[in-house]
Amino acid sequence: EKEKGLIRDSWESLGKNKVPHGIVMFTRLFELDPELLVLFSYNTNCGVAPECLSSPEFLDHVTKVMLVIDAAVSHLDDLHTLEDFLLNLGRQHQAVGVKTQSFAVVGESLLYMLQCSLGPAYTAPLRQAWLNMYSFVVSAMTRGWAK
Ligand code: HEM
Repeated sequence: EKEKGLIRDSWESLGKNKVPHGIVMFTRLFELDPELLVLFSYNTNCGVAPECLSSPEFLDHVTKVMLVIDAAVSHLDDLHTLEDFLLNLGRQHQAVGVKTQSFAVVGESLLYMLQCSLGPAYTAPLRQAWLNMYSFVVSAMTRGWAK
């Protein structure tokens, strides 16, 4: 309950438009694992992450990811209602060649983005609260991936 408050308040404090935060997150993701770039099949001719991140398809995926996180934040009281959606999402990522270990790198990038955006409000309990929520998302996606 305290954790939920930390998550809700921090997510709200990022503002309505989450795409710029998503870009920070994915810039970090491709820095941590540049090989993830090639998994985007529409990534035909841009070799480096910053160029890719300005392409409409990438922004589209960034937007989709932020919407999933937003859904999780809105459903903190009943996360299990997202389970079927997340199982299916995991399966879709298996189909496009994403490995389950990469979900953890996305988590690291999420925390990095929160740290950058929240500054001093990024505390150990807040970090743990986000980790717990993200772990739920990843665990459902991973189960769907393996089905
Ligand atoms: C779809 C890659 C992580 C949410 C896709 C697609 C690719 C992709 C290639 C299909 C093309 C597209 O729709 O843009 C990746 C990679 C990831 C990653 C490389 C890094 C590990 C995530 C995470 C989430 C997410 C962590 C959410 C928490 C979505 C959604 C779709 C999608 C909602 C659309 C699925 C649909 O077609 O209904 N992803 N993804 N992705 N991804 Fe990811």
